Amino acid sequence: MHVLFPANQIYIFYTWNISNGASPYLFLRRPCEFLLFLHSHLHFHTHTSLKFNTSLPHAYPDFSRRPTDPCFFKPSHPLSTTPSDQISNQHTMSATTMATASISFSPVPTALITSSQLSTASLKSRSNRNCRIITASLSEKSQPIVTKSESSVPIRKVPGDYGLPLIGPLRDRLAYFYFEGRDDFFKNRVRKYGSTVFRLNMPPGPFVAKDPRVIALLDAASFPVLFDTSLVEKRDLFTGTYMPSTDLTGGFRVCSYLDPSEPHHAPLKKFLFFLLASRRQEIIPEFHRTFSSLFENLEDELAKKGKADFGGPNDQATFDFLSRALFGQDPAETKLGRDAPKLIRKWVLFQLGPLLTLGLPPYLEDLLLHSFMLPPALVKSDYNRLAEFFKESAGPVLDEASRLGISHDEAIHNLVFAICFNTFGGLTILFPNLVKCIGRAGARLHGKLAQEIRSAVRDSGGVVTMRAIEESMPLTKSVVYETLRIEPPVSVQYGRAKHDMVVQSHDAGYQVKAGEMLFGYQPMATKDPRVFDRAEEFVADRFVGEEGEKLLKYVMWSNGPETESPTVDNKQCAGKDFVVLVARLLVVELFMRYDSFEIEVGTSPLGSSVKITSLKKATF
Ligand code: HEM
Repeated sequence: MHVLFPANQIYIFYTWNISNGASPYLFLRRPCEFLLFLHSHLHFHTHTSLKFNTSLPHAYPDFSRRPTDPCFFKPSHPLSTTPSDQISNQHTMSATTMATASISFSPVPTALITSSQLSTASLKSRSNRNCRIITASLSEKSQPIVTKSESSVPIRKVPGDYGLPLIGPLRDRLAYFYFEGRDDFFKNRVRKYGSTVFRLNMPPGPFVAKDPRVIALLDAASFPVLFDTSLVEKRDLFTGTYMPSTDLTGGFRVCSYLDPSEPHHAPLKKFLFFLLASRRQEIIPEFHRTFSSLFENLEDELAKKGKADFGGPNDQATFDFLSRALFGQDPAETKLGRDAPKLIRKWVLFQLGPLLTLGLPPYLEDLLLHSFMLPPALVKSDYNRLAEFFKESAGPVLDEASRLGISHDEAIHNLVFAICFNTFGGLTILFPNLVKCIGRAGARLHGKLAQEIRSAVRDSGGVVTMRAIEESMPLTKSVVYETLRIEPPVSVQYGRAKHDMVVQSHDAGYQVKAGEMLFGYQPMATKDPRVFDRAEEFVADRFVGEEGEKLLKYVMWSNGPETESPTVDNKQCAGKDFVVLVARLLVVELFMRYDSFEIEVGTSPLGSSVKITSLKKATF
């Protein structure tokens, strides 16, 4: 990897072999071994017991609404609009309607899932000791939570400890980034403690986060506690144990950092629901327009060089698509030009740097990225360019902000964050993951997807519609869910316990004190072998059919089960249905054009780096 620092930008180029370098490793390894030695000989245990105001559980309105079917494109013809597009003029919908209708791009058929089926999330093995517990599980669809009942599970003290102040967090940080690596860091401790719930320090720790101590929840039974806003507080926890300066977000605490109990949370989330719902008819045509051009360029590149990078062009296409679809604005025709992806990458680095590895020599990287926040002033002018673009492009959506009592300034900075961080950030991890998972699965799966997609499009009159996707593309839907299961793009979630409670894993209940920080590493919950067969494998048709759909409650990429919907009272991703729709559209676009394709895969700080090595054009 090479990192260049021109005057006001940071460019990062990846190579296939990111080497940690032997000497820096040894340099760091010895002090670390010393710390480990110190730690294992001096057991030191600290414990938080902060008190928080508690709030009652909020009502959970029914958000499931079947999509109307107005959006479509003709894959090989100019885009056109059906009469139903014109009839359902979504601009007439009020924000209140949006808040109770959610976005409804492609809701999961929740009717198939009964509460007794859902209760399979609960414990499989229990002991006979009776005790009073609070169980957080997925067992109730609309009230996913608290049963204060007599139940027979062994109650355990949460195992693990935090080590000496400063030393413990540094030890855990080095282990997480360099000595063990993220996945093994967690797996090794599961083995060590014989438990999927235990104490540890989460990076970054000193000097970025004041208190890195967390209780990790690493199985599908305990993880959903993090979704229950009656049990956990989500204030300022979006990035974990530290929060980046609000100087990076125009001086505002944007929606993602707000707890639902805070007064601005509901209007801001409604505002984003409104944005997505009001532009829903643009999604399919603009996606096709932008991504068909991306694939044409990849074909040219492949013909010239024998291989084509998917990541860079995908970044540009994703931003262009979002801008065209959600604001009717082509960025190339504005002062922003084609600069957005690199401005966003740099701005995101200033927020997430303490959680990333870029492949620099470890001692240098740990000092530069993980020990201090990069000063926001260095990215101010880039951020201002993005904010200016949204100010000029937002147009009528700002009227809705006013109706909701949100100032234009706050609305604009929330748009920057929702589009550039939440959406662009998420999709530019998800799309390469999707191409990687499907690419690796091979030609047989490709053939089946091509068959399914082309036949569904033929049956809907040669156009891609939401209905065709929802009703006639079960395998396409399944590969998207399976990708989101196997590699959730946002892998960590946090929540601070509001009450003393007992959190239940598959095997035991664990006492948690009010004020303690709960943390979940999602890939371990969504690859829980107690829930999924061949949990580590990409099984393309895992979610096909009635039995397959029952497993969707364990797909939790959106900070909530796939069978539930975002509301103003929860912290589930506001863009949940939008994300699932566009991911399906990428698969549709791929297999309308190609019978099969091949790839080469590498790593990048956020997600995967994918190169296309062959594209076999559609023959049927
Ligand atoms: C692949 C793309 C995306 C992924 C993986 C993703 C993931 C997530 C996750 C995991 C959270 C919860 C974080 C937490 O509180 O711990 C979240 C929250 C949120 N997401 Fe997304 N997201 C994506 C796209 C979007 C889109 C398209 C929007 C568009 C508006 C969006 C808006 C939000 C907002 C506003 C929140 C905070 C919700 C709240 O405060 O109640 N996200 N997202």
